[in-house]
Amino acid sequence: ERLDAAGGILLPGFVDLHTHLREPGREDTETIETGSAAAALGGYTAVFAMANTDPVADTAVVTDHVWRRGREVGLVDVYPVGAVTVGLAGTKLAELGTMAAGAAAVRMFSDDGKCVHDPLLMRRALEYATSLNVLIAQHAEEPRLTEGALAHEGPTASRLGLTGWPRAAEESIVARDVILARDAGARVHICHASTAGTVELLRWAKAQGIAITAEVTPHHLLLDDSRLVGYDPVNKVNPPLREVGDTVALRRALAEGVLDCVATDHAPHAAQDKCCEFALARPGMLGLQTALSVVVATMLTPGLLDWRGVARVLSERPAQIVGLPDQGRPIVVGEPANLVLVDPDAVWTVRGAELASIADNTPYESMELPAQVTATLLRGRITARDGKVVDRSWND
Ligand code: DOR
Ligand code: ZN
Ligand code: ZN
Repeated sequence: ERLDAAGGILLPGFVDLHTHLREPGREDTETIETGSAAAALGGYTAVFAMANTDPVADTAVVTDHVWRRGREVGLVDVYPVGAVTVGLAGTKLAELGTMAAGAAAVRMFSDDGKCVHDPLLMRRALEYATSLNVLIAQHAEEPRLTEGALAHEGPTASRLGLTGWPRAAEESIVARDVILARDAGARVHICHASTAGTVELLRWAKAQGIAITAEVTPHHLLLDDSRLVGYDPVNKVNPPLREVGDTVALRRALAEGVLDCVATDHAPHAAQDKCCEFALARPGMLGLQTALSVVVATMLTPGLLDWRGVARVLSERPAQIVGLPDQGRPIVVGEPANLVLVDPDAVWTVRGAELASIADNTPYESMELPAQVTATLLRGRITARDGKVVDRSWND
């Protein structure tokens, strides 16, 4: 099969360190198959599937199932993330070693959705992860500061009467984990950094030579809490949409490399869990098929990154962070390549119902976004082309 790349931008396949695929447990909102389709259409060749499934991915039985199902579907490499603790935010470490030694060879662990809250448990997890050479990714949220919180604590939340989720809930855990990682000589990865203060902590930690990395989501780059007037639950997410000043700080930090990469936190939810009252709605939004366009709108168009930089934050850095040797690099002559061909001049209108995910909860509904994926190649084979997935389930 031939691809006409004229006028296009060729990039290494994108790597998402933070995807919720909902299988097992909530196949009414996303499956490994539908999530893989969304990933391929979004330009991804590898995704890390978070552990907050039902059952939780805290044993090799679950992580190996996710891995095998991903291979069967064949559209994107699905790397399961194992839970750090039994049951997520539990009191006991999960068997990281068993998951790392399983068929999936789990290389990243996270209790995302919840925070590894107990400092002693976090310390032990970091030591355990260092001995296994795997990565711990932390959803930084001090739960004692976010109880009942619905939105970023600030003028907008006060005006709307929504209980606030303070910056300190994120920053206090980031600060603590920086110190724990330093003292354990361990690596730690911060999920979805969302505040200007987190950026300053990361800047300091990196200047000290502490082995910390961090991701930012497309929605925290583009959207802020002014979207909450109207109380549309589609804008509810954890961590919450912050203030304009935070989005500016996050964009700058991503351009400078203080924030390492973009990760989607793709979080599909059923319509009935995203409707009605803001207070009752679940947090989270779709991200896989809109990530590139949002990065172009927030980073490339304003001149904060060039295409080389886009490749760095969507592919190269995330691949380095988890140590995927066959991802995140441009063509190596003679080897099957993971590639995305992008039409930089395309403009498209987002329609949640047309996205490949079963769920439709996109905050970008009806928005016009720049740039579109023309084709995605996984190990030299086309997985998506012109907005359609190529059936690969026969698995060559
Ligand atoms: O908004 C979020 N949604 N944040 C999380 O931490 C979890 C995620 C989910 O699983 O829905
Ligand atoms: Zn999270
Ligand atoms: Zn998440």
